[in-house]
Amino acid sequence: MVRRRSRTEFVYGHQRLVLADCHRWLESCTADHIAAVLTDPPYGLLEYSAQEQQKLRDGKGGVWRIPPSFDGAKRRALPRFTILSDGQREAIRTFFRAWGCALHPVLKPGAHVMIAGNPLVSPLVAMAMESAGFERRGEIVRLVRTFRGGDRPKGADAEFPMVCTMPRACWEPWGLFRKPLAFRTVAENLRAWGVGGLRRLSEETPFLDVVESSTTPERERAVAPHPSLKPQAFLRRMVTAMLPLGKGIVLDPFAGCGTTLAACEALGVEGIGIEIDGHYFRLAETAVPRLAALDVSA
Ligand SMILES: C[S@@+](CC[C@H](N)C(=O)[O-])C[C@H]1O[C@@H](n2cnc3c(N)ncnc32)[C@H](O)[C@@H]1O
Repeated sequence: MVRRRSRTEFVYGHQRLVLADCHRWLESCTADHIAAVLTDPPYGLLEYSAQEQQKLRDGKGGVWRIPPSFDGAKRRALPRFTILSDGQREAIRTFFRAWGCALHPVLKPGAHVMIAGNPLVSPLVAMAMESAGFERRGEIVRLVRTFRGGDRPKGADAEFPMVCTMPRACWEPWGLFRKPLAFRTVAENLRAWGVGGLRRLSEETPFLDVVESSTTPERERAVAPHPSLKPQAFLRRMVTAMLPLGKGIVLDPFAGCGTTLAACEALGVEGIGIEIDGHYFRLAETAVPRLAALDVSA
């Protein structure tokens, strides 16, 4: 049962979602408390502002656009992301450096942080996270066919039928970072803090950095209508990977409809989510229990 603790917080099973700005929330969080972070942040830094969200909900203008139709099917709105100006690149670096600096103290030494991105922004996030004191540990390739890219030159489709302005995305990078260990070895860190490594798929097979995935299924979108919804099957695999001993609190500071929390609940793991937008916070109240109850395949 969902329990409303206040106007700005609810609890469901092992999950807690807080309506807040994550930067503020991080300032008040206990040090060395969180075992892993799994998150899908805003990138335009504009697209989740109150004004742009209103335009998206009204279906009018703004940074959200409907991508051109390739097969006559109805498309969902996507934020524009083709070229970043120097100012936008700098804004992304500044945002993630400040965010990384605020996050660092609340994590256990050796905690992993996994951040969804796209090929244009992931190098900027990596630089910012390193400058905030994190170690870069690689990048998870989520193999998924999205509708990003692949368009012909705008307004000249017929003139240049064999040209696309950038490749159609068939993968999504999830940057992997770690707060430095408190000890010389992973084994010592695991004994003391329970984190520092990633959970293997089996005794024979380590965690792999290429993960086949589908787009978010329609039945999940119906339960949680968020424009950037991530699929349960993928998130559950990532939550499992990030807790090497199966213990600890997972944080999603940009929680949206609570998909990371739902994945945690399905796995019996404790999760905390922070979401700034009241509309998505309220949607999460019904979405988290329903997504957590879904039986999903990989
Ligand atoms: C890309 S979406 C994540 C959606 C999520 N993957 C899901 O499946 O529901 C980013 C979310 O971060 C929220 N957000 C933006 N800035 C925030 C902040 N400073 N603190 C907390 N949440 C924020 C936005 O409202 C948005 O819902």
